[in-house]
Amino acid sequence: MSGDRLAILGGRPVRDKPYPSWPIFGEREEELLLKALRSGRWSVGGELQEEFERRFAEFQDARYCLLCSSGTAALKIALKALGIGPGSRVVVPAYTFIATATSALDLGARIIYADIDPRTLTIDLESVRDQLRNVDAVIPVHVAGHPADMDVVMEYSERYGFKVLEDAAQAHGAEWRGRRVGAIGDAGIFSFYQSKNITCGEGGAITTNHEEVWDKAWSIRNVGRPRQGPWYEHKIYGWNYRITEFQAAVLLAQLERAPELMRRRDEAARVLDKLMDEAPGVEPLERDGRVTRHAYHLYVFRYRPEEFRGLPKERFVEALRAEGIPCSPGYRPLYTYGFLPPSKPLPNTEKTREEIVWLPQPILLSKPQDLQDIAQAIQKIHQQAETLR
Ligand SMILES: Cc1ncc(COP(=O)(O)O)c(C=O)c1O
Repeated sequence: MSGDRLAILGGRPVRDKPYPSWPIFGEREEELLLKALRSGRWSVGGELQEEFERRFAEFQDARYCLLCSSGTAALKIALKALGIGPGSRVVVPAYTFIATATSALDLGARIIYADIDPRTLTIDLESVRDQLRNVDAVIPVHVAGHPADMDVVMEYSERYGFKVLEDAAQAHGAEWRGRRVGAIGDAGIFSFYQSKNITCGEGGAITTNHEEVWDKAWSIRNVGRPRQGPWYEHKIYGWNYRITEFQAAVLLAQLERAPELMRRRDEAARVLDKLMDEAPGVEPLERDGRVTRHAYHLYVFRYRPEEFRGLPKERFVEALRAEGIPCSPGYRPLYTYGFLPPSKPLPNTEKTREEIVWLPQPILLSKPQDLQDIAQAIQKIHQQAETLR
């Protein structure tokens, strides 16, 4: 089949069957949704929300968890609960989802872009070392589900006194040296958007080991109300970033299914690592030895344009998609968005933009023989790269 013309040029695709669809659900989601419906408590005071918060905190090795309406909301609530506001300085990696930065900007803070470690795509604090003395918070992002180097982040946090908010939006269940992410720093956030490994369509959570952060986050999420007190008392400035009981119902069922799916993604990722090692012109990413569990929200690999006769990554991604392999070019550096603060190009962020390709997580729920198609499609494009130039 790899002798056929490239699918993007009208040939037959390597794969014509779809990969597993996402999100998935079963009778348990239906049962819990009905329970939520019949409870008559669809928002504040819902029992399923409290149960999920308890169970998810445990799942992430955190003392507290607070549900909210999205990962983006969680970032803003958590930053505010950590004392970030007008005039604060917050370090964010330039290679991340835009909300990591806009949440800080929304609060009136200034952002400082850090470069990333090209091996893991996570924050490289050395790149902003000379500024750490003057920053109020750092947001390490566990990109694709691979934890950032939390040893370095926490060491510098102690030395320079900044707060740490882990952006674990993509890292449900991920572990750094045997400890799950989300409460290694002062707080962490998660997303339950529909593509995420645990999802309810839209939703987010804040995790922390600090009661005062949880308590403040509770109020901020709930228009500034104190946790105990009259309904129309507002002690601080907040917003309505609550979630409904229906989302919590779905989340509880998803959490029950998570360990089995985590095991399957991990197994498939190891198969893909081997295939990427063998396929021409691409490489698997390194996994830091201190990462005891990768969440694999994405499977990322390195594409070497020079080995495809200089074919730009975007064109390779289009060709791979045409062969029936869902994939994405991923983030562009945040400083390239005209409405965000500018920066000089950061070398590893730029290299990552040129080389890193994302495969979405549902691919990792397919059978090992379905993963062969990915290697075969890459090989086919490699052989015929000249025809795409
Ligand atoms: C790294 C990162 N941070 C934050 C978010 C924001 O989450 P949400 O889409 O739930 O607002 C996402 C989700 O796309 C993400 O991937």
